[in-house]
Amino acid sequence: MPLLPSLQIGQHTARYPIIQGGMGICISGARLAAAVANAGGIGIISAVALGLNSPYFDIAQPNSRKRREQFFEANRLALIDEIQTARALSPHGILGINAMGAAQDYETLVRTAAEQGVDLIISGAGLPLQLPEYTADYPNVALMPIVSSTRAARIICRKWERQYGRLPDAFVVENPNSAGGHLGAKTEELGDLAFEAEQVIPELATYLQQKVGQPIPVIAAGGVWDRADIDRMLSLGASGVQIGTRFITTDECDADIRYKEFHLRAKPEDVVIVSSPVGMPGRALRNAFVEKAIADSPDLEKRCLFNCLHTCKCRDEQQYFCIIQVLDKAARGDIENGLVFSGSHAGKAGRIIPVAELMAELVA
Ligand SMILES: Cc1cc2nc3c(=O)[nH]c(=O)nc-3n(C[C@H](O)[C@H](O)[C@H](O)COP(=O)(O)O)c2cc1C
Repeated sequence: MPLLPSLQIGQHTARYPIIQGGMGICISGARLAAAVANAGGIGIISAVALGLNSPYFDIAQPNSRKRREQFFEANRLALIDEIQTARALSPHGILGINAMGAAQDYETLVRTAAEQGVDLIISGAGLPLQLPEYTADYPNVALMPIVSSTRAARIICRKWERQYGRLPDAFVVENPNSAGGHLGAKTEELGDLAFEAEQVIPELATYLQQKVGQPIPVIAAGGVWDRADIDRMLSLGASGVQIGTRFITTDECDADIRYKEFHLRAKPEDVVIVSSPVGMPGRALRNAFVEKAIADSPDLEKRCLFNCLHTCKCRDEQQYFCIIQVLDKAARGDIENGLVFSGSHAGKAGRIIPVAELMAELVA
């Protein structure tokens, strides 16, 4: 088998073309990101709501205005801690954050990460049309929007070039038919072959080469499990891959051990699509919570505690559930009452292994 190529993004070169996908809340923190970076990949801390599980936040705060203020400040302080911890664990590795455009504190978190010296920022959940403005003082920080179509990439290139005189350093192309977490397509669009890597990767690579005229790397995400998947993505024209679910069943994954074991026990038929208050569907594992969510049970927690999203059907229409609370519960090990996101390749991991062993297998 030929050796895998290195991956250059902006000014940063990773030994292997493997990015560990950001996974919120607290699934990919400093430990996982640093381990991946130390093994020659790119490690990504999910910046979403880190404050919840930090000493800076007290959920029992009775005053709702104070609680919200404290929540956002805690998110900022906890992100600084997480970046500094990851850097201490991996002084020379390539480290980034994943931020979600749908979050109210997106701009603060992105600015904080750039100030803290991350190497790159991957931005999902919405088109990051103003991202270059937030990081303008830190030109070494590479910027990578997540898209599901060439159309979205085109809109970003045009706007960034016109307004900021720059282009993205890479695009992550996430396939909503197979990726875990929130998906960049409507529920009724899922399964559409137009989202498949075979379609989007060559199309976007050609667009970037011919129309934009820049060698902007395209990273394939969604359903990448093993070396054969990596080779297939590279043969389509991708410069690298982003892998989420497979990194959950590692020693260093930051989630509770019960979360990892739940993933180990999962079978392919346990993977379901859940409507989320964010306004995008999510791919997750079936459990007691998901049964309730699908049945729209009156037991679902619909109280908005943080006002954390720009658009939220839980806050605005008292529909669905509070996404932050159920993701947090799962990450802390309450896998029956929490939401356990997962890609479509659930149940393939045989055991929990160190990241170094997984990386060695992926690149062998
Ligand atoms: C548990 C979990 C949480 C995730 N959280 C986020 C997130 O906060 N932001 C984001 O952009 N993507 C998120 N994702 C998507 C991953 O970063 C990655 O792109 C995706 O999972 C790739 O597909 P795979 O899981 O099949 O490898 C999440 C995925 C999982 C499984």
